[in-house]
Amino acid sequence: MTTRTATSHSGPDAKVVEVSISNGHALVTIDNPPVNPLSVSVRKGLMDAVRAVNDAGCKTAAIVCAGRTFVAGGDISEFAGPPPLPHLPDVLNAIEASETPFIAVMHGTVLGGGLELALACAWRIADEKTKFGLPEVNLGLIPGAGGTQRLPRVIGLERAARMAANGKPVNARTFEEFGGLDLVFSGDAMTALEGFRDTLPPRPTSSSERTVENVDLTALKAEITKSAKGSNAPMIALETTALAATLPFSEGSNIERQTHLDLRQSAQSRALRRLFFASRSVTRPDRLKAFEPAEINHVVIVGGGLMGAGIAAASLAAGHRVTLLERDTESAEAGRGRVEAIIAKDLASGRITEARADARRANLSAGANYATAFDADLAIEAVFEDPEVKRAVFAELAAVMSETALIATNTSYLDPNLIAEGMPGPGRFLGLHFFSPANIMKLVEVVGTSATADQTMSTAFAFARGLGKIPVETGVCDGFIGNRILSAYRRQADYMVADGASPYDVDKAMRTLGMPMGPYELQDRTGLQISWANRKRQLAAGTWPGRYVDIADKLCEMGRQGRGSPMKKGWYDHTGGAGQPDPEIEAMVAAWRTEHGTAQQAFTADEIIIRIMAAIVNEANLILEEGIATSDTAVDIVWTEGYGFPKHLGGPMFWAEETGIERMREAFAAIEAQSPGSWKAAETLKG
Ligand code: NAI
Repeated sequence: MTTRTATSHSGPDAKVVEVSISNGHALVTIDNPPVNPLSVSVRKGLMDAVRAVNDAGCKTAAIVCAGRTFVAGGDISEFAGPPPLPHLPDVLNAIEASETPFIAVMHGTVLGGGLELALACAWRIADEKTKFGLPEVNLGLIPGAGGTQRLPRVIGLERAARMAANGKPVNARTFEEFGGLDLVFSGDAMTALEGFRDTLPPRPTSSSERTVENVDLTALKAEITKSAKGSNAPMIALETTALAATLPFSEGSNIERQTHLDLRQSAQSRALRRLFFASRSVTRPDRLKAFEPAEINHVVIVGGGLMGAGIAAASLAAGHRVTLLERDTESAEAGRGRVEAIIAKDLASGRITEARADARRANLSAGANYATAFDADLAIEAVFEDPEVKRAVFAELAAVMSETALIATNTSYLDPNLIAEGMPGPGRFLGLHFFSPANIMKLVEVVGTSATADQTMSTAFAFARGLGKIPVETGVCDGFIGNRILSAYRRQADYMVADGASPYDVDKAMRTLGMPMGPYELQDRTGLQISWANRKRQLAAGTWPGRYVDIADKLCEMGRQGRGSPMKKGWYDHTGGAGQPDPEIEAMVAAWRTEHGTAQQAFTADEIIIRIMAAIVNEANLILEEGIATSDTAVDIVWTEGYGFPKHLGGPMFWAEETGIERMREAFAAIEAQSPGSWKAAETLKG
């Protein structure tokens, strides 16, 4: 006999937790789309379910989830205010203490509060494809419902501390080996559950009542300090987990809960949560919701160099059929080789199976005949950064492709309006600016021209999201959002070097802020010739803004074009492998200052940081005022996803807000005074 009780309602018809009882066994189903977060209605529903199964004297109660996953976490939208009752720790304690023992039956991604819920159950069984993790640190938090205290009691201290501190999920087989699971199954969950119940082992000691062996975590601490890169939560998660070895469960849990609640208010967590929500909204502009994206099957990439090969690999990984077009068949084969090398790397690293690699290779063709683009739904041009070459490619594509198909340029700095000018079907042209390496970097700037149709934008956004990318809309200007800010960043760095700062001190200061590398290390990595060509173009066009420091040009003329150049030198000397500061550069910069009679000013690391940030934030505000970016979070997404700005600092706009707008104004006034006539002030930063 089966009875059903809906134990909680978030609306007139929505039953988020439902209990059904059959032959003395209860099934507690959570149905809270899309990922079954532990919202207040679910917590209430679970509390009622504990009561219901005990009142009915059930032999067991299994928790299962509808949809694509078991509970994948807490409800992040509740984190801004005080948590409403019942609190999750109380719900989990009730499940653990329940007379009727609970069984977690899991699939999908069992993360955060989901894993905490599972740990409170007497038994845990899971589909073999399930993943388990405590990703709270990615939002600047630690678990808040016993996760750091129950997990070490189940799988051991070091493993638990690593999972809590690095936030990375582990797969079902690994979690089973750790001792976290009682059964791993494949196939139907209900069949597996029935089988498990038929041979039910004796009820184990509750997770919270087990003891933990203390182990030395020194090596793990060193590892986590390094990988956290200035983010506080990972070490706090590790240290809180370690309490399980010395404190009783209730004491450790109280500390964990209080730490979790305190961290919710921290700047780092607010920054990370803001980016988390922004990466969802920015990638789905409201304006485009009315336009159903067109289906993209066949993608043509023109130019199989560094960028073209990466974009092709990303498109193949998303299941598209890809044609790589090059200048001649020899270059086409070279392009194919680059794409195949990326596929081979993915295979060697275990990221994909042999079958997947084969499927990707089978979906790839390469050649020099534009006629093969006749049925393409989208073409992306990634040829040399030369407007005439790009216009010729656009014209050839427009001649063979349907007028409803999209044609995009991957240009870094050129105006897509000019590349598409005068061509038939202007609504289908746009910019799709990928970042290098394009198969890995998530950011894509989606550039609408003055004629790009909203339908085209909608399809382009959907395509980029389908590639697993983070698309951000940008208007047309020199460098779009990201590279335009980068130019301002580099200009201010050069002004300080011209006036007395060592380039090595500038790099060091920016690393102190949390950037993965400073501006000069970055130039050595990407090659100095790209920005050199861009500066020449701006000087020729008369658009260079103010003071011009030509030290980098001199390096380029000397052949010091970066790590990958034949000399293996740039700002640093890379001849011995790792880049070393070079006395030759110090001497050259000193001679330049003498020649130009510039001030020999000393800049502290803090001054370097705030002056560079003033230049960045001023440019970002100009971009917003001009309507190039739609929101300050869009700027922050571009700089955290594309340029390595630390996510726990939230992006340049968030950083400026936290630092205080007055301090930013003062710093901006200082850089204006340092290089008069070189900066246009944004309204926000005007004194
Ligand atoms: P690359 O020099 O590695 O590749 C360019 C490729 O285009 C070469 O394989 C060349 O044979 C091919 N090509 C040239 N003319 C052609 C034509 N008429 N028809 C067909 N193929 C032709 O250059 P890279 O770095 O891949 O850059 C390509 C574009 O991507 C440029 O517009 C660049 O500004 C942009 N970009 C570059 C980034 C980078 O980090 N390198 C980042 C983002 C954008």
